[in-house]
Amino acid sequence: MMQARSKGLALLACFPRMGLGLSREAKSQPVKLKRSLMSSFLSPEAAYVDMRKAPMLFETFLREEWLAPSLLEVVASAERGERHPLLKKETDGVYSLDVFTEKFCQTFLEEVDNYFATGLPVRRPNSMNNYGLIVNEIGLRPALTDFQQKVLRPLAALLFPEIGQSFGAHHSFMVQYRPNEDLGLDMHTDDSDVTFNVCLGDEFEASGLTFCGGVGKSDHRQFSYQYNHVPGRAVLHLGTRRHGADDIYTGTRRNLIVWSHNLEYRASDAYVKRMYNYEKEQGPPDVRCLSYTHDRDYNAYKNYPPGVTKDNAQRAWCPPPMGCYDQMDTVLKTSNQRGPLLQKKIQQADSSEDDTKK
Ligand SMILES: [Fe+2]
Repeated sequence: MMQARSKGLALLACFPRMGLGLSREAKSQPVKLKRSLMSSFLSPEAAYVDMRKAPMLFETFLREEWLAPSLLEVVASAERGERHPLLKKETDGVYSLDVFTEKFCQTFLEEVDNYFATGLPVRRPNSMNNYGLIVNEIGLRPALTDFQQKVLRPLAALLFPEIGQSFGAHHSFMVQYRPNEDLGLDMHTDDSDVTFNVCLGDEFEASGLTFCGGVGKSDHRQFSYQYNHVPGRAVLHLGTRRHGADDIYTGTRRNLIVWSHNLEYRASDAYVKRMYNYEKEQGPPDVRCLSYTHDRDYNAYKNYPPGVTKDNAQRAWCPPPMGCYDQMDTVLKTSNQRGPLLQKKIQQADSSEDDTKK
């Protein structure tokens, strides 16, 4: 009985998708209205199919007019285990290369703008960026999987051999920085094994991407390198690398980001245990590497940015107890940071010291 009822419900759920749920009046309306009515029954991805501006984009990115002239040669070298001179080492663990032509960037951004204009739902791309679009959710996942397997995997396998050998999934999204929206992005690590980040344009001033160390390493919060975005050019790094987008001055900068996931690595002991091997920080953090979202000692060195409250300290976790540098306790006690959780910890430390004196 239950099975039959479920089947009935499933069939009912299918009717609107097939157009059978539309009234006679609705069926006689202009195409645009029909699309609007239909899209209320479909997923955003399905509803967008008929509204695509550049349908070719959804098939593959690997068209000659869209790829930087050197890209396939660089990828072929990687497949032979050789790093092509045009695959530039910016600093240890950070590499860059030309990937897309201006024509591709323009086509991609026009597609994104076309999607925004439909009024279909837009989810924020990740837990930190407020503006952008998850491009997997507008139908671009197959083209990005194709690009990941044919371009990103060979590059990652060469550059990050322990983690980049195989990718079984990706989270791909466009992020957007402009005055009055997100100016930049606080220091963070990515929920990826390997991150591919390509600048698509448009016009902008200030394009820095600041790199620090790897999470759990003694230099995690020490400055490493400042990369500057160039349209059409991409940067590759491990997701565990601490980095942040510098504030934009003028214009708009939009980037396509692919977080590649190695599912075998994520199921391994090495992945599970990596946070248990957290190294002690070599010293106080470089102020360029501080995160107001994640760092417990942020306010000891910098004032919180406008709009960020001291309650951020409640969610801050970095460094964990085993990672604290020698001066960390003193720094926290003498700072003006008084988030409730830290306040409690400081009080507890003070009372235990008093107990010791007794
Ligand atoms: Fe990131």
